[in-house]
Amino acid sequence: MTFDKIYQYNFPTTIRFGSGASNELGDYLLKNNLSRPLVVTDPTVAQLDFFKRITEDLKKKNIAVETFSDIHKNPVKSDVYKGTDVYDNTDRDCIVGIGGGAALDVARAIVLRVNHREDLFKYDDLIGGDVYVTEEVPHFITIPTTAGTGSEVGRSAIISDDDTHQKKILFSPKLLAKIVFADPLLTMGMPSAITAATGMDALTHNMEAYLAKMPHPLCEGIALEGISLIHQSLETAVNNPDIESKSKMLIASLMGAIAFQKGLGVVHSLAHPLSSLLDTHHGLANAVNIPYGMEFNIEGFEHKFKRIADVLDLKEQSGKAVVEYLFNLNSKVNIPHKLSDIGVKEEHIEILSDLAIADFAHPNNPKPVSREDFKMLYERAL
Ligand SMILES: NC(=O)c1ccc[n+]([C@@H]2O[C@H](COP(=O)([O-])OP(=O)(O)OC[C@H]3O[C@@H](n4cnc5c(N)ncnc54)[C@H](O)[C@@H]3O)[C@@H](O)[C@H]2O)c1
Ligand SMILES: [Fe+2]
Repeated sequence: MTFDKIYQYNFPTTIRFGSGASNELGDYLLKNNLSRPLVVTDPTVAQLDFFKRITEDLKKKNIAVETFSDIHKNPVKSDVYKGTDVYDNTDRDCIVGIGGGAALDVARAIVLRVNHREDLFKYDDLIGGDVYVTEEVPHFITIPTTAGTGSEVGRSAIISDDDTHQKKILFSPKLLAKIVFADPLLTMGMPSAITAATGMDALTHNMEAYLAKMPHPLCEGIALEGISLIHQSLETAVNNPDIESKSKMLIASLMGAIAFQKGLGVVHSLAHPLSSLLDTHHGLANAVNIPYGMEFNIEGFEHKFKRIADVLDLKEQSGKAVVEYLFNLNSKVNIPHKLSDIGVKEEHIEILSDLAIADFAHPNNPKPVSREDFKMLYERAL
């Protein structure tokens, strides 16, 4: 690791973590003189008992809740515009995101849009749009209900174009939540397939962040501990959920997102095109690709794979053993080994490779990745 210039490291979010943490929301709002929250969620979470309990609790405290849940599985710009209309038309004073990465991303994009009314994609970070994020933003609070993206501690929102499905990144430190209420009890009832896919997303964040190019020993430490926690808990959280495994997964997912300020890599660039083109769930797309992407990364980084193997308690401390571990873990949590099992066909590979090389994640991969490499990796995984 060489420090060839001055780097910036941030760990700014207040996190209230533990069973029951979501019960603190009402008192927190009142203490901060907030009484008209827009609660942003997705249509499924809006129907769950814990969601109803949270909003009922707020109403009992005379907090005037308005819920917006009309969002897509892979959120699009029009979702954000609709939510902002609700914010305006019902005279809100803060935004509470409750849900998985999709709902939290829409919530965060509404936070941006409230006082930034140019076309939403003018603020796309990939074209330097973050410089236009100059105005104040509403008070923002996040409550995660999956253990995967870690979007609750993130400062970016991934929103797609309604027509082209191209993913844009809205980014600004202003989009960080002021406080996160991370309550593992909310994740207890998650269907096992979602626990598995989101958990593999969290593992991918920690592994890719650990390997990413930027010199960042703080994040590397967090990422290794995140990998260890997932190793201890994912299988149980999927097949035999208890509060301990769910708590470890929730903190590890949050750690992954903190760690990936260091960067992501080839696996996310393999995964993103599957969501844009085939609407594949983000976590599932990472899960199927991670063994292949990690295999690609071994050469030249054996020393780092040795440390990953160490935290995974592997007998043989090598990259090859890590790749085997990943295939085995996928089997244990019922995730297929092949892209063909999740709807990818030979005819998709060219377009997937075009999208992957244009993706924002792989420039931080420890090794450069070419279009040919992406094509080879998709073919291998097919
Ligand atoms: N902002 C970031 O840094 C970042 C990083 C990675 C991914 N993402 C985005 O996050 C999204 C994926 O997020 P995700 O993996 O959390 O999935 P998700 O938000 O799409 O949720 C998956 C499914 O689980 C359901 N669900 C959520 N919580 C539940 C609960 N407690 N019990 C039962 N069902 C529940 C949801 O309704 C949904 O159907 C994608 O849109 C992706 O682009 C964002
Ligand atoms: Fe991810």
